[in-house]
Amino acid sequence: MIRKRSMLGMAVLVVVCLSIPLSNALAQKDENYLTYRQKVMAGIGANWAATGVSLKNNLPSKANIGVHAEAIHNASKLIAGAFKKEITEGKTDAKPDIWQDWQKFADAAKKLGEESGKLVEVAESGDMEALGAQVKATGKACGDCHKPFRKPKEERFKR
Ligand code: HEC
Repeated sequence: MIRKRSMLGMAVLVVVCLSIPLSNALAQKDENYLTYRQKVMAGIGANWAATGVSLKNNLPSKANIGVHAEAIHNASKLIAGAFKKEITEGKTDAKPDIWQDWQKFADAAKKLGEESGKLVEVAESGDMEALGAQVKATGKACGDCHKPFRKPKEERFKR
């Protein structure tokens, strides 16, 4: 009787032990998704910041803006895939509205693709006035997605 019970105890223990790493692995997977989508966005952010500093200070050359715009254009194609999985818990500043209004979110990503694509062309043309206007239009594409879909500053998680 005692033996039977301890066997059962062992079996329960084994099941418990097996399920701990499994649930950790699942949780970590979500974490990896979050990291990936945030890295995609951080890359866009870095190229955007480089565009700004280049435009204002001619650093190192305004011609570089076209390259940064191209990087943003390319990364914009990754946004929909990076956010496809609905993860609203944990270290994320994404609003649940993304998955309630997926088409609007996907359209906002597409819009960034269009505006940054135009920015590539304008930067190559060397028309500085048009360049300023197109930088503004591209910045608006960021804001038009962040406003409905990214938490406001005061609600963001801190790293
Ligand atoms: C289609 C929607 C969308 C567009 C367009 C968009 N963003 Fe984002 N961005 C988000 C969301 C959502 C988050 C929050 C992600 C999270 O925390 O999981 C985010 C987060 C960020 C972050 C923080 C990344 C990090 O390290 O956590 C930066 C920087 C950023 N965006 C910059 C930009 C810039 C610059 C543009 C335009 C050139 C832009 N974004 C366009 C949706 C968008």
